[in-house]
Amino acid sequence: MDVLSAAGRQKRDDRDDGDFYDRPRYVTHADDAFCQRLTTLYDELMAPGDRVFDAMGSWVSHLPAADLDYVIGHGLNADELAANDRYDEWFVQDFNEDQSLPLGDEAVDIVCCALSVQYLQYPEAICSEFDRVLDDDGAVVVSFTNRMFPRKAIRAWRSASMAERSDLVASYLRAGGLTVTDRIAEDGATDPFYAAVGRSGTTH
Ligand SMILES: C[S@@+](CC[C@H](N)C(=O)[O-])C[C@H]1O[C@@H](n2cnc3c(N)ncnc32)[C@H](O)[C@@H]1O
Repeated sequence: MDVLSAAGRQKRDDRDDGDFYDRPRYVTHADDAFCQRLTTLYDELMAPGDRVFDAMGSWVSHLPAADLDYVIGHGLNADELAANDRYDEWFVQDFNEDQSLPLGDEAVDIVCCALSVQYLQYPEAICSEFDRVLDDDGAVVVSFTNRMFPRKAIRAWRSASMAERSDLVASYLRAGGLTVTDRIAEDGATDPFYAAVGRSGTTH
């Protein structure tokens, strides 16, 4: 099911996304309060031994200290991914070119997608893949704030309010076959903390 129109998927800069992420950026893409809040949320959802897929990742993953079984990273910049000391393995793939994940069915317990969903032109297909690779009692966590690279964010995101973005993310998860079990919207003095949690539709 399509959530976005063709116009809504457009980016101002339609050149190859890989070129934009060609050089590593060893920065964080939200303030410390956001990153700590995300770690707290992950900590609530994760258990020792969990298998984690960190989609659209970089050199930091905001993961809690939990003793995870393994963490698979993904992103567009190999240097950033190689510098991430939580990853057991990682791969580079442009999700706007190829939405098929090289992971098996039910291969992970938690899918993380932090501060990046605004760059997806085909989020429905990506969420469908998140659902496929997720184990029955697992969770997908999509988090975001009000920051973005405007050239690379899709039009539907750029023109939306934070409340509308929260609705968009929930629609993406549902379009992928997931059930939205939690939505967080915390506005304050720091970077706003927004997240949605999706679970496999078969068990929730
Ligand atoms: C703002 S950073 C967030 C990185 C990390 N998740 C974090 O929390 O710091 C956005 C990430 O999205 C990834 N990304 C952007 N466009 C992408 C695309 N077309 N396909 C796959 N990944 C993409 C890049 O690798 C980049 O690291």
